[in-house]
Amino acid sequence: MNSHIYYLFYISLVFLFVYKATGCEPIDTTLGFISQPLNQSNFDIQKPYDVPLEHRYKFSNGVHQLWVIKTDKPHSRTSKTGPRTEIRIRDYDYSSGVWQFEAYGYVPCSTTGVCIMQVFGSQPPHATTTMLRVYNSSLYYYTNPVILSNLYNRWFRLNVIHDVEGNTIKVYIDGILKHEATGRGGKSHYFKCGVYTSSNASFYMESRWKDIKVLKLGD
Ligand SMILES: *[C@@H]1O[C@H](CO)[C@@H](O)[C@H](O)[C@H]1NC(C)=O
Ligand SMILES: *[C@@H]1O[C@H](CO)[C@@H](O)[C@H](O)[C@H]1NC(C)=O
Ligand SMILES: *[C@@H]1O[C@H](CO)[C@@H](O)[C@H](O)[C@H]1NC(C)=O
Repeated sequence: MNSHIYYLFYISLVFLFVYKATGCEPIDTTLGFISQPLNQSNFDIQKPYDVPLEHRYKFSNGVHQLWVIKTDKPHSRTSKTGPRTEIRIRDYDYSSGVWQFEAYGYVPCSTTGVCIMQVFGSQPPHATTTMLRVYNSSLYYYTNPVILSNLYNRWFRLNVIHDVEGNTIKVYIDGILKHEATGRGGKSHYFKCGVYTSSNASFYMESRWKDIKVLKLGD
């Protein structure tokens, strides 16, 4: 009987050790950060220029739903970029400091070949410092590595931390660090989320977002 209890105790210790050692414990990524005031006027929505907003975007019960079709037009008559319906966070463009994007995201299973979140701005020739893309049921940091598999049809919490001077990016899913990358420099940045067509896109692409926050590390 006693040996049973010691055995269980030992097994629990081993599990605890492995759990800690692999860093799989969710953390509060917002500690020390200050949440910036946001309202609908901070959400500049970019959508195919020739369709009304309500044909590609809906805001209801606190959920932003954004979708686009592969054959859609770009967001402006002169743009040569792929179709998008995206929230571009306005009034919090930054060139220094440590900034964080937090939101709950959701991708329905019909969606692939699309970028759903960006840290915009970088040293040319690139345009972005981070892209999170959906390919075949997984979320990727650009095309590698996988950030989250079995992505479809469930809410996940996303935290992306950009340290401009340190030139680093950290991506967390549900409080767990999934990827740490070197940034791509640049002097002007902002956050975006929604759908922006990438390679091998599905006909229909959609993502949903709620509780969007922009936070800045306090001094
Ligand atoms: C939204 O916030 C801006 C400042 O960030 C303020 O000027 C504006 O009045 C606010 N709008 C609403 C509808 O609260
Ligand atoms: C997605 O699936 C297609 C078809 O099976 C395959 O060609 C492609 O390489 C996959 N993409 C990734 C990033 O796994
Ligand atoms: C796109 O599809 C082609 C052909 O199936 C495949 O070779 C390529 O790896 C795919 N790219 C991605 C990013 O899924």
